[in-house]
Amino acid sequence: SRPPLVYMNGVPLIKYFAEAIAPLQNFQALPDDVLISTYPKSGTTWVSEILDMIYHDDDLEKCQRAPIYVRVPFLEFQCPGLPSGVLRLKDTPAPRLLKTHLPLALLPQSLLDQKVKVVYVARNAKDVTVSYYNFHQMAKVHPDPGTWNSFLEEFMDGKVSYGSWYQHVQEWWELSHTHPILYLFYEDMKENPKREIRKILQFVGRSVPEETVDLIAQHTSFKEMKKNPLANYSTVLSDFMDHTISPFMRKGIAGDWKSTFTVAQNERFDTHYADKMAGCDLPFRWQ
Ligand code: PPS
Repeated sequence: SRPPLVYMNGVPLIKYFAEAIAPLQNFQALPDDVLISTYPKSGTTWVSEILDMIYHDDDLEKCQRAPIYVRVPFLEFQCPGLPSGVLRLKDTPAPRLLKTHLPLALLPQSLLDQKVKVVYVARNAKDVTVSYYNFHQMAKVHPDPGTWNSFLEEFMDGKVSYGSWYQHVQEWWELSHTHPILYLFYEDMKENPKREIRKILQFVGRSVPEETVDLIAQHTSFKEMKKNPLANYSTVLSDFMDHTISPFMRKGIAGDWKSTFTVAQNERFDTHYADKMAGCDLPFRWQ
């Protein structure tokens, strides 16, 4: 039940998602789509819930109409016995919100041609690695992650699902110079959620009273989302996600890597990071 990764254009993917890539190239984006793009475990669900609330006039009842993966379809999602992301999008009224983790090499061209607005969220690589390791254990469509140390090596080598974090954050950053992309950081959202919510509102061209910003921030806090079955993925069958191993809403903090990285692992990671990110001006923060 844990099939190995399959390489598409040099990018390793979960087998089922890899099978979705070729047909996905015919995907027709709509100009008023908004794409939420991230490397996995970087704040996708958080920003999805914020945007769904913005799109539904902060009406909590409307945001309870379905689980987050129905409200914001996952473009490349495909799994036996479940509706694919593309199928769900057919039933989604415009203006639509879409989620993807795809690197540019696999992104459907139509999203670029239609100049679809993108909200990109990046998270520091160390916290992503820790979150991804726990996710591999509970979400069994991924290969068995092995030990923490071996997973860390695979991550640094770009041999995990969706490939290299280093390339992902940099290529989407470069694209943001020519394509309408709001490039956000998970750590900024933790530091000042309302400030980041206001940036999102401005980017999608909506203005709301300050009380609404308060309400959105409250409804999308980690505490609220963790107990919200329509945001916390508890509605997914345990064959796919086993929350008893590790909940999807695990810790929701910045700097958790300090409880997992050894001093030696951290030193090795920093040296490798400096090499991979040389010349890149992305301002990552580590706590
Ligand atoms: S996925 O599977 O790639 O779509 O996962 P993603 O949603 O990108 O990332 C999951 C991590 O984000 C944390 N999370 C949050 N943190 C703070 N506030 C809110 N509201 C929030 N919602 C989700 C979630 O707990 C995962 O991080 P870790 O570090 O594992 O706790």
